Amino acid sequence: MKSAIRRATPDDHARVAEIAAEGDSTDSDPAYLSFVAEAGHLLCSEIDGQVVAFGGVVPVGEIAMVTDLFVARVARGSGVGGRLLQALLHGQRRSMTFSSKSDAALAMYRRAGMEPQGRLLYLSGMAIGGSQELVEAEWQHGRIDLVRYFAARGALVTSDSVATPGSGHLRVHRLVGEDAVGTCERLLTAFDAGNTVDICVPEAHPLAGWLAKAGFAETDHDMLCCSAGVDLPPDLAALHPGLA
Ligand SMILES: CC(C)(COP(=O)(O)OP(=O)(O)OC[C@H]1O[C@@H](n2cnc3c(N)ncnc32)[C@H](O)[C@@H]1OP(=O)(O)O)[C@@H](O)C(=O)NCCC(=O)NCCS
Repeated sequence: MKSAIRRATPDDHARVAEIAAEGDSTDSDPAYLSFVAEAGHLLCSEIDGQVVAFGGVVPVGEIAMVTDLFVARVARGSGVGGRLLQALLHGQRRSMTFSSKSDAALAMYRRAGMEPQGRLLYLSGMAIGGSQELVEAEWQHGRIDLVRYFAARGALVTSDSVATPGSGHLRVHRLVGEDAVGTCERLLTAFDAGNTVDICVPEAHPLAGWLAKAGFAETDHDMLCCSAGVDLPPDLAALHPGLA
């Protein structure tokens, strides 16, 4: 049996999406995978010439953010994921990820020195409506490459928020700033009541409690896993679970 880890190319995207789907992720479309590859690294593992796993990492300042790590069902539990994680983090001192709840994922991240720090809540609720349309504005925070990526995919950007409106639906990708509750309220009132809203919020952030009172329900959660000394910035109120 011959195994290898190499950079993924666009020719791998279809197989990568299949492997992600086996891990219940439907987010690994070509635009997303290309963004990860360009901003950081997208690697895949082969056994006897067949791609059996993929993983990505992007820089967030000096921190290596593991965006994805999925192993095809047939190849799980034999060290493929652990070796791929080592390759993704090669030469990196500080790392983080939002891990799935699976025992294997948490064990794999612990082995790499990334300990669980808190939950990232997937919250779903309704817009409130009643105010004027949201006016686009220049983003006032860091990660401009990430904000441009979402904007290129149709997101509406304001100074503190990035969200994609769809038909009857709003997905909030990023919300940063000291007045996160005010920013979120402006978003929710700018869209008609009846639109569903999905947003991922660190459990420890005050916005999580405010959204719970506004009727948002937890549909899932991931676990923030970090190497020593790494934490989320306190002004990061909502984020994308893969890209942070
Ligand atoms: C999580 C995942 C990437 C791990 O890859 P893998 O190749 O199966 O894992 P490995 O064989 O490298 O093992 C990694 C660690 O998990 C442990 N492990 C493996 N399978 C396990 C299981 N079923 N239960 C508990 N621990 C398990 C291993 O013992 C190892 O820990 P150790 O180094 O302390 O011994 C893979 O199982 C997977 O894709 N799962 C589904 C999708 C998913 O949850 N992805 C993670 C997204 S964050």
